Amino acid sequence: MKEIRLDKYLTEMGEGTRSQIKEMARKGRITVDGIPEKKSERKIIPDQNTIAVDGRNISYAEFEYYMLCKPQGVVSATEDNRYQTVIDLIADRKRGDLFPVGRLDIDTEGLLLITNDGDLAHQLLSPKKHVDKVYYAKIEGEIPADAKKRMEEGVVLENGILTMPACLEILEYGNPSSILLTIREGKFHQVKRMFEALGCSVVYLKRLSMGSLKLDENLQPGDYRPLTAEEVDLLKRHGKEEKTKDAQ
Ligand code: URA
Repeated sequence: MKEIRLDKYLTEMGEGTRSQIKEMARKGRITVDGIPEKKSERKIIPDQNTIAVDGRNISYAEFEYYMLCKPQGVVSATEDNRYQTVIDLIADRKRGDLFPVGRLDIDTEGLLLITNDGDLAHQLLSPKKHVDKVYYAKIEGEIPADAKKRMEEGVVLENGILTMPACLEILEYGNPSSILLTIREGKFHQVKRMFEALGCSVVYLKRLSMGSLKLDENLQPGDYRPLTAEEVDLLKRHGKEEKTKDAQ
């Protein structure tokens, strides 16, 4: 691993701002390999030096990837004055720069990827990449007989914009009905607005997958786990394949 500054290491691990770290070092609270280090700008090697703050070892992670089953009532943001955020739920996080990849509405549940890998986030969110997102929803009101066909053609939203084609599977008719919808975009309130365009309303919404990443069925709302190396690899590979396609 490359050398980095001690203050950068600790800032990235969420231990404070650079000036706070400087002050902590000045007070002798930071040690490198057990020896107090007063100069917060000194260089260290993350996988060779042991860094501690007040005797607590701070290990380093360049990138973190978590799968969260987002519960209702929590916002898809890094900070919020009123509500708990999805980042607050990741109690084991090491890094201070994690963010959610895309947004789910406050009342939507399900799969949310939390990371600090900006390149991967870009690959997953870019409209050009056409990453499929599968949602499970409960729908109130009568689903029109031609709903599947209309979703396949793309529907015109209330603002006149035509969505990309989507794939509708009706699991059970009723009130509410339950369905699966696969979309390739991420417009604001997209699933809710697509059903409104058909004259019905979404009363429960849960995201089940995003590209190759599937929500782990063992995760209850509010639970999370790190992605496996294989899951990270698959997500990255998808982005690369799409890049190659773009170039052709
Ligand atoms: N579509 C919506 O309407 N809401 C979400 O949270 C995600 C997709």
